[in-house]
Amino acid sequence: MASMRFPAGFLWGVSASAFQIEGALDEDGRGASVWDTFCARPGTIANGDDPGRACDHYHRWREDVELIAGLGAGAYRFSIAWPRIQPSGRGAPNQAGLDHYARLVDALLERGVQPVPTLYHWDLPQALQDAGGWHERDTCERFAEYVQHVARRLGDRVPRWITHNETFEHSVLGHALGVHAPGEENGLAIFDVVHHLLLSHGRAVQALRATARADAQVGIAQSMQSARPASKRLRDRFAAWMLDTVHDRMHTDPLLLGRYPRGLALLRQDRSALRDGDLEIIAQPLDFLGINFYNPQYVRMAPRGSAAPIEEAEPPARFERTEMGWPVDATGLGQVLRGLRARYGKRLPPIVVTENGAAFPDAMDTQGCIDDPRRIDYLRQHLAELRQAIDAGIDVRGYFVWSILDNFEWAEGYRPRFGLVHVDYATQRRTPKASYHWYREQIAAQR
Ligand code: NOJ
Repeated sequence: MASMRFPAGFLWGVSASAFQIEGALDEDGRGASVWDTFCARPGTIANGDDPGRACDHYHRWREDVELIAGLGAGAYRFSIAWPRIQPSGRGAPNQAGLDHYARLVDALLERGVQPVPTLYHWDLPQALQDAGGWHERDTCERFAEYVQHVARRLGDRVPRWITHNETFEHSVLGHALGVHAPGEENGLAIFDVVHHLLLSHGRAVQALRATARADAQVGIAQSMQSARPASKRLRDRFAAWMLDTVHDRMHTDPLLLGRYPRGLALLRQDRSALRDGDLEIIAQPLDFLGINFYNPQYVRMAPRGSAAPIEEAEPPARFERTEMGWPVDATGLGQVLRGLRARYGKRLPPIVVTENGAAFPDAMDTQGCIDDPRRIDYLRQHLAELRQAIDAGIDVRGYFVWSILDNFEWAEGYRPRFGLVHVDYATQRRTPKASYHWYREQIAAQR
């Protein structure tokens, strides 16, 4: 790996998101988000874990900036909590919220780390959910207004913006299956949610282009799964095509081709949310496409009468599994990258891997060290795959590890640990794992 060199200027980063690390949910005028409400419902979060403190990053951000700078990372992807900026999702901004992120951005810049804010990582102000949330077209306008406030304050300094994080997961886990906030179970009837998320992305790009500095790079982070059939049978291959259509293409075709994939018609969704001119707004030119990649996904057709046409299948036993149960197979990342190039050709903007990483049951030894060789292997294999894709001519400009810190893994609570840095939630003590030191060496070797 020492010889695995990446192109000059390649961006080495780490990622996190507001609700997963900040805590301080009632401070400085922050309003409630859909995740506050969802977590308060009994039975939604594994082990009854409470997001109220998380990594206490809202207070300990200086220490965390030091950890990021100590890695030699060129960039830090974090998210801005909309309910800190607009507690009720509309109207004048809350200065204390803006101040917090301005201090964070300035501290990163001082340490030579590019701040890469994500404007929405699933924490919709609850007041907007009460008004219909992403089912309502007005939420797109509210989002554009919020982005405008943030861009007015930070737009002169922030070099790179991400509008949304994973519109598939937010729409399906939160609005179809009910396992994420806001906990709705609408089955296949979520076209309006997806469409409004994408439309709000387009409106946010317009707001950033109008307000942020002219050379700001603007993109979105979408999760990509290399869909694989459970067997070679035709019906399973059809299931994989279907997964690719609803998981990946539904969330990238509108952005890059200005249309929804034709295969979606099979789902017979109500598409009345789609109006003339929307697709032009959604397909604003992007400076980069962020992709979050973790694992390949095996699928088969669901039995007749099931709610969804396809279902998850067991991955082959030869694959190692992470703490999340996800199979480890870095070739999936290459498959995704080649797939993107094949599908979008010249319309594909440069790619940034905005998340990649793994949860493993890390143990601290008696010396207080955390040796996490499986995470190092995981990262090494994915970087090797990325390097091959770059050699094959795919334009990948950066790579962000999820995550800098162990954090609140949504409905799974605190059990899965994705961090390069271990967090003792009782004491809030941070301990860099072996993978942190390994990643630092990889970054240093590029200089
Ligand atoms: C995707 C999400 O963006 C992030 O919030 C989550 O923690 C990681 N993947 C791991 O599941």
